[in-house]
Amino acid sequence: MCGIVGYVGMRNAPDVLLEGLKRLEYRGYDSAGMAVRSAGRLEVIKEVGKVADLERLVAERQLEGSQGIGHTRWATHGGVSVDNAHPHCDDCGNFVLVHNGIIENYMDLREELEASGVQFCSETDTEVIVQLLARLYRGDMLEALLKLIEKLRGSYALAIMNREIEDTFYCLRKGSPLVLGVADGEGFCASDVPALLPYTRQVAYLEEGEIAAVSKGLLQVWTSEGVAVEKAISIIDWDISMTEKAAYPHFMLKEIHEQGAVLRTTLKGRVENGRVDLSSELGWDPELVGSWKKLHIVACGTSFYAALVAERVLEKWTDLEVKVDIASEYRYRHSRADADTLGVFVSQSGETADTLAAQRLARSQGAHCLAVTNVRGSTLAREVHDVLLLKAGPEIGVAATKTFMGQIAALYLLALYLGRMRETLTAAEENRLLDEILRLPYKVEVTLEREESIRELAGKYADRKDFLFLGRGISFPIALEGALKLKEISYVHAEAYAAGEMKHGPIALLEPAVPVMTIIPRDGLYEKTLSNIQEAKARRSPILALATDGDDLITKHASAVIRVPWTDEDLTPFLTVVPLQLFAYHMAKLRGCEIDQPRNLAKSVTVE
Ligand code: M6R
Repeated sequence: MCGIVGYVGMRNAPDVLLEGLKRLEYRGYDSAGMAVRSAGRLEVIKEVGKVADLERLVAERQLEGSQGIGHTRWATHGGVSVDNAHPHCDDCGNFVLVHNGIIENYMDLREELEASGVQFCSETDTEVIVQLLARLYRGDMLEALLKLIEKLRGSYALAIMNREIEDTFYCLRKGSPLVLGVADGEGFCASDVPALLPYTRQVAYLEEGEIAAVSKGLLQVWTSEGVAVEKAISIIDWDISMTEKAAYPHFMLKEIHEQGAVLRTTLKGRVENGRVDLSSELGWDPELVGSWKKLHIVACGTSFYAALVAERVLEKWTDLEVKVDIASEYRYRHSRADADTLGVFVSQSGETADTLAAQRLARSQGAHCLAVTNVRGSTLAREVHDVLLLKAGPEIGVAATKTFMGQIAALYLLALYLGRMRETLTAAEENRLLDEILRLPYKVEVTLEREESIRELAGKYADRKDFLFLGRGISFPIALEGALKLKEISYVHAEAYAAGEMKHGPIALLEPAVPVMTIIPRDGLYEKTLSNIQEAKARRSPILALATDGDDLITKHASAVIRVPWTDEDLTPFLTVVPLQLFAYHMAKLRGCEIDQPRNLAKSVTVE
C-alpha cells in the first residue's frame, strides 16, 4: 500500500528514485511522484498513472539533483489525481514529504490548521502532516519530529526533506514498514528491500516510533523519546537477479515456474535422515511444546488459504485443537488465546496490518507466537517469539504464487515437527510422508511442463463471466485459492465452495454458461466429489476436472481434464494449486489484463 523511497549521494537522485519506485510499484500504482533538491530548491513532479508516466515527465523536465524522495500511490484518502499524488509540501515550500499509511485523526488536525489560516491543496491525510510539521519546526528537526509524533494517530512511514538542511533527509515509522540502506557516501530508505538491491545490501530496519536522519554514508536513529540508538546493519542475502523477470513476460509466470526450486530451498537443511529438524530455528524444548493445547493460525488472503490447507494436516498429525481465522476477524472477536496457545501468523510480506494486529493481540493474551513469513526483517518477524522462513526469494507479482507453495511447505514441516515432539505421529509415518515430500519438487516441475494444455483450456473458456470452483477436504482451500487467483488477475467472477455445500445454494447459479472447476485428486473423498460433479453436470454446466494421472473414470464425467502426478492424499495441494495458477494466468493474458499489477490491488496491505 504505497511505496516510498529516499536517496542522498553522488548519483543522480531521479534515476535512483525511478528505479526504486519501479521495484516498489507492486505496492500501489495509481499515481507517482518525486521531490528532488535542485539548485537549493525542492522541485516536485507528480503524475497520475504508473511510474513509467512519471519517468517521461522527469525526462521532459530534465530533473537532476543528488537528493530526493519518491512515492507510488495506492489511493486511500482522496481520489486519484495529481493534487492528491505525493510528495506533499507545506504552503511555504519549506518541507516536502512522502507517506505510506493512514493518519486517523487527520480531520481534527486539518480543521485546527484551517482555522489558523492554512490552505490545503489536496484531500489527503498526508498533507496535514507536512503542514503541521512546518508549524512545529523552530530550527531543530529532531525536536519538531518528536512533537509531530505526539500529534499523529494512525500509521505512517515517512520520508521528509527540509529545504534548509542539505544532504540529509528524515524518516519516521509507526505501523508501516521502512528500511534504511547505507553504502559508501550514500544513504537510502525504502518501503521494501528490492528497491535498495541495485545499490546496497547493507540495511537497517526502523523499529516502531523511531526517527532517522539519513545522510551520505551515515544513518542516525533516535527513539520516539529522542534517545539516540545504535542500529545494527544487516546484510541482505537476496540477489538482484531474483527481482528481475529474466526471459518471462511476467513476474507471475516466472514465480509460478520457480515453485519446484522454492520447495527445494524451503526443505533444504530442515529434513535429515527421514525426520524434520527445526531445532536450530525454533529452539523449542519438549516442555514448552507439551504445554500447548490450542493452535491458532491467523492470516489474510492467499496466506489464509495456505493456513486452511495446513489446518487439515495439523488436526491429523497433532492432538492440538486447531483454529484458523482471517486476521481482520480474529483481531475483533473474543478469540481467547492464552499461555496454552501456539499462535501461528502466516504472511508473505510480514507487513499486513491486520495480521500484525492479530499477533499483538494473541501475544498480549499470553500466546507463544510464531511467524511464517518470506521476509526476514519484516515487522512480523521482528515482533514474534520465533520465525519460520519460507526462503521463496522476493515475490514481485501482486498475485501470490510461489510464496503459497513456500507457506504450505513450511507449515507441513511445522505439523510434522509438532507431531513428533508431541508424540502423536510415529517415526515410520513421518518417514513415509517425508519420502514423498522430498519427491514433490520434481512432481511440481512435471506439472509445470503441462502448461500448454492448460493454456489451451483457458483459450476455450476465456470469454466466460462466472466460474464455480469446488473441492472437498484438503482440496477445498485449493478451490478457494484457484478462484481467488482467477478473480484477482483476470477479473472473472469466481466462487469457491466446499463441494458438499453446492446443493445448499450455489447450485442455483449453474447453467451451461457457468463452468465448474472441480479439484478431484484420487483421495478418500473422490467418490463423494464425483457425485457432486454429477449434480453439476445434470444442470448442464461444463465440468473442468483437476484429477490425478491414471484416473480414467473422470474422463467419462468431465468436459475437460487437467492432470497432476499422483502423490499421497495429504500432499495433493502442492500439485493441484499449480494448474489453477497457470489457468488464471492464461485466462488473464487472453483477456488482455495487467497481470503483475491487477487493478485496485496492492501486494502488501499495510492499512486496516
Ligand atoms: O503478505 P501477506 O501474505 O500477509 O498478504 C496477504 C494477502 O494480502 C495476499 O495473500 C493477497 O490475498 C494476494 N493478493 C493474493 O494473491
